[in-house]
Amino acid sequence: MTEQQYPSSVSLDPDWAGDTVAVQAGRPARVPGAPMNPPITLSSTYVHDAGVEYGRDGNVAWGALEAALGALDGGHAVTFASGLAATTAIAALVPAGGTVVLSSVTYHGVRQIFDRMAADGRVELRIVAPDDTEAIVAASEGAAMVWVESIANPLLVVADVPAIAAGSRAHGAITVVDSTFATPLRQRPIELGADIVMHSATKLIGGHSDLLLGAVVCREPADAETLIAHRHDHGSIPGALEAFLALRGLRTLAVRLDRAEASAGELARRLATHRNVAAVYYPGLPDDAQHERAARVLDGGFGSMVSLDIAGSVEQTEAFLSALRLVTHATSLGGVESLIERRARYPGDAAIVGPTLCRLSVGLENVEDLWSDLDRALRAVFG
Ligand SMILES: Cc1ncc(COP(=O)(O)O)c(C=O)c1O
Repeated sequence: MTEQQYPSSVSLDPDWAGDTVAVQAGRPARVPGAPMNPPITLSSTYVHDAGVEYGRDGNVAWGALEAALGALDGGHAVTFASGLAATTAIAALVPAGGTVVLSSVTYHGVRQIFDRMAADGRVELRIVAPDDTEAIVAASEGAAMVWVESIANPLLVVADVPAIAAGSRAHGAITVVDSTFATPLRQRPIELGADIVMHSATKLIGGHSDLLLGAVVCREPADAETLIAHRHDHGSIPGALEAFLALRGLRTLAVRLDRAEASAGELARRLATHRNVAAVYYPGLPDDAQHERAARVLDGGFGSMVSLDIAGSVEQTEAFLSALRLVTHATSLGGVESLIERRARYPGDAAIVGPTLCRLSVGLENVEDLWSDLDRALRAVFG
């Protein structure tokens, strides 16, 4: 059995909902004796003459993960070593000297990639607020690429992807959506008109804080081919084990997301009236500035991230984070365990958020335990 013969994916019913596709897609073809899951093939080289010859060309576990993510997002998936490796590959699609319209609320690592390219004279940047659809579309005139993150880190801004994609397309620019916080189960950017979707599968797709992996899904097969060539040349390939684990994480994404979202909504509601919390950002709250757009663009939920501004000093905010016993003071998001951090500790985020803004990634713990921990830690600091 070679890397090429095996596996072809099980066939998918076009009517299946995303949560069914997430469970079924990318499994080995259902023939007698076939395993339920793809193997983790640890081999740098393959016997000559069957397409994949070397570990940089392909791996059965990436193939399975790409089949699943492509089916979910409705395009051609290419996986990478991390979300930033995927971002670097997408950024390379911009022709030398081309213009990129970049949302001002964006993961700081992504911003840094484009800032460095601009500093090197490789691209020109136009920075626009993600919720100012008109300004984004206007800026897309003459641009090669529009990059929006939605739901955007760390203020949980939701972009009007359909309007941005349509307007940018009319101006000849491609639209890329970093859909990491929304996942393929809450937003399908290609269906909404975008050209390319990026996911840091390190987060909710993997779901267990045990891997780094990036995924890109392209509307056009030609873009996917260019990204595959980039991945080959840069060697920015995912590991076989990471790909296997990301696919395993994807199988339970729907139930994890449902649970984490329910808790996120409940915690956001309670935090919004807490006397030691100055502001809460959660697109699911009816009076959140993003709510109307979020209800229109997102499908079935508002995500598992909540941001909160502590009504106090930086020192009090840090003391609050240290006083938590259940929620862990750590970066990253989307795992089964709840994490929180003060975002202004990153210079990139300090430019766009206040010094006491904390980003909470809600996990799967009991919501009352999470609430008790947050409330107790706030009382421990503020009395
Ligand atoms: C929204 C978003 N995009 C991209 C990335 C980068 O992904 P990775 O850490 O897998 O390189 C992150 C990481 O935190 C992120 O939050």
